[in-house]
Amino acid sequence: MDRYAVFGNPIGHSKSPQIHRLFAEQTGEQLGYEPLLAPLDDFAGFARAFFASGKGANVTVPFKEEAFRLADQLTPRARRAGAVNTLMKREDGSLLGDNTDGAGLVSDLKHAGLALDGARILLLGAGGAVRGVLEPLLAERPAALVIANRTEDKAEALAREFDDLGPVSACRFAELQGPFDLIVNGTSASLAGELPPLPEGVIRPGRTFCYDMMYAADATPFCRWAQQLGAAQARDGLGMLVEQAAEAFRLWRGVSPDTAPVLARLRSQV
Ligand SMILES: NC(=O)c1ccc[n+]([C@@H]2O[C@H](COP(=O)([O-])OP(=O)(O)OC[C@H]3O[C@@H](n4cnc5c(N)ncnc54)[C@H](OP(=O)(O)O)[C@@H]3O)[C@@H](O)[C@H]2O)c1
Repeated sequence: MDRYAVFGNPIGHSKSPQIHRLFAEQTGEQLGYEPLLAPLDDFAGFARAFFASGKGANVTVPFKEEAFRLADQLTPRARRAGAVNTLMKREDGSLLGDNTDGAGLVSDLKHAGLALDGARILLLGAGGAVRGVLEPLLAERPAALVIANRTEDKAEALAREFDDLGPVSACRFAELQGPFDLIVNGTSASLAGELPPLPEGVIRPGRTFCYDMMYAADATPFCRWAQQLGAAQARDGLGMLVEQAAEAFRLWRGVSPDTAPVLARLRSQV
């Protein structure tokens, strides 16, 4: 049976094995998928040993940049992101690195009925997750994409790096001029129960769509804040997780799984 895995450290919390098992059942693909704890001091050696027999792997925290360096070839979106979350062994034994996080976010937003063409987007954070979603979001031709981050220099550097792809700029939290059509929280602040210091005017009640890349059983601090200010929707990142997995499954197997029943199943368990 073809062997797949997710590499991370820690890895016990990962939902990827369940998602890929459900995709395999649904599509009739014969494959095994296991969570693997990769060592912090030898990711490359561990991954190479896996690929002696393995066909593909997802990569999660903190190895996405090491996976980028390990890959022999990169898809254009992975090169642009500077990070790899999906590895695939090719016929000649070489490793292809891809980044499906941004496509996952855009798919989930579209499934929710959001039009990104001409939208004013605010992106919070300037870490790996934000790097991964910038190119796919700009490809949807928003009217403006503003990046705001606690460490302002990082937001400015990112805006400069991606400004050939569309109308992207950086701004301090306090100076943000709303309202926005879409606000994506790509910080890890929710993990600490915190919220970036956003001025109220960024949300237009009944219109603004808010999205937290983090997901949890209860509403995240960002989603609670969005609901309190009357956002049209406040969604968490569980859909993005399932959609980025579907994109990886498609790359590995050439088959597109139906994500809706898998997301519904996960949602009922979270
Ligand atoms: N749903 C999905 O499929 C999916 C996929 C990828 C990531 N994610 C989620 O996205 C989030 C970010 O991941 P990442 O890989 O980008 O992490 P990362 O590279 O460590 O970046 C973290 C970002 O959060 C900011 N931050 C951290 N604590 C903060 C706080 N208390 N207040 C304001 N800003 C804060 C950091 O700002 P500084 O630059 O100032 O440190 C940085 O911009 C995580 O919650 C992760 O779980 C979800």
